[in-house]
Amino acid sequence: MTYSNKVLDHYENPRNVGSFDKDDDSVGTGMVGAPACGDVMKLQIKVNADGMIEDARFKTYGCGSAIASSSLVTEWVKGKSLDEALQIKNSEIAEELALPPVKIHCSILAEDAIKAAIDDYQKRQENKNKA
Ligand code: FES
Ligand code: FES
Repeated sequence: MTYSNKVLDHYENPRNVGSFDKDDDSVGTGMVGAPACGDVMKLQIKVNADGMIEDARFKTYGCGSAIASSSLVTEWVKGKSLDEALQIKNSEIAEELALPPVKIHCSILAEDAIKAAIDDYQKRQENKNKA
């Protein structure tokens, strides 16, 4: 199988690789696995006082398409509100990267990871307000 140029670009020059401190209250962490292949993706967002995502990081133990999908999503979420980031669809990721059908689940992983990160951030805020 050949990868598209955009996949190769993100695979060879992944954006925003790394981690934030997951105990930081401004950080949300999403960790998801793909049952189809066993690959794992960790995606983190950092949210500012206005509720906008100001930065994002990822670590993906997976195929080139999964790495490219997570790299792309970290770029897309920056500057978005949480609601806007929740609108990101795996089909948009797959289209942007020209993923073939067998690699669609890799983009689903990225959509799930950003949703999980937002969920974690929101739970964290609720717990903070209870404390
Ligand atoms: Fe690894 Fe699919 S087999 S990402
Ligand atoms: Fe499974 Fe890419 S995440 S093949």
